[in-house]
Amino acid sequence: MSFKDKIVVITGGNSGIGYTSAASFLEKGAKVLITGRNPGAIQQAVYALGHPAEGFKADQGKLDEVRKLADYIKGRFGAIDALFINAGLAEAGDITTVDEAQYDRLMNVNFKGAFFTIQYILPYIKDGGSITILSALNANAGMANTSVLSASKAALTAMARTLSRELAAQRIRVNVVNPGIIDTPLLEKAGLSEAAKQVIAAQTPAGRLGESADIAHLVTFLASDDASFITGAEYNVDGGLFVHPLIA
Ligand SMILES: NC(=O)c1ccc[n+]([C@@H]2O[C@H](COP(=O)([O-])OP(=O)(O)OC[C@H]3O[C@@H](n4cnc5c(N)ncnc54)[C@H](OP(=O)(O)O)[C@@H]3O)[C@@H](O)[C@H]2O)c1
Repeated sequence: MSFKDKIVVITGGNSGIGYTSAASFLEKGAKVLITGRNPGAIQQAVYALGHPAEGFKADQGKLDEVRKLADYIKGRFGAIDALFINAGLAEAGDITTVDEAQYDRLMNVNFKGAFFTIQYILPYIKDGGSITILSALNANAGMANTSVLSASKAALTAMARTLSRELAAQRIRVNVVNPGIIDTPLLEKAGLSEAAKQVIAAQTPAGRLGESADIAHLVTFLASDDASFITGAEYNVDGGLFVHPLIA
């Protein structure tokens, strides 16, 4: 699997799955541009990833910044080979506690931001390129206390299937990856305690939480020429949790 002379853009690439995917693409010869909201964190990640990683500040929830990202891509690269929509938030809340601000935050970044990132960058994705979208196990799992988060991710999956048809004429492949519970900084941000993590690991058929690399392996494969016959597809990478769901 070689990405020599290929250009990959990853939204939310300064941490967790996005960062590890950036490292994986770089290792295989790609040029990689990562985004995020925090210039300091992006700079640190670009430095740690090494040449030829690059960064650009763009909040996926702010369409003016997403537009600037697309303009930057046009000027810097002309066209890219692969877009990985990775940036996203995870916040839990049951139906009685979710307020409008939380609803807007989740839908705005996870779905609306992702949709317009694709729309704005699409003119600069080469024919024969790919879009990979990170959804979540929640999209299909009926996990309690995640109705808005799950809906924001399920919307991505519906969009991806549709786009796989709409973009077929340009031979742009669109696929979805559903991570299970992956041990990244997101878990702490979502309020998951160490004890809860251990319970989940014990209930996962694979016997552990996922690691960012578990997702990055599939993401790089889906963006590669080896996956040229795969589009409109959805993959769970969850150590078996979906088949053996958590009783939440
Ligand atoms: N970890 C899991 O168990 C799990 C499970 C299912 C799905 N996922 C999905 O995996 C994706 C990556 O999460 P992760 O686990 O790797 O978490 P993470 O370590 O918190 O990384 C999230 C990345 O996204 C960036 N980001 C967040 N909001 C952004 C925004 N509005 N605009 C641009 N960048 C933004 C963050 O950077 P800044 O905050 O510095 O901007 C960071 O680089 C998310 O879409 C998440 O929903 C994760």
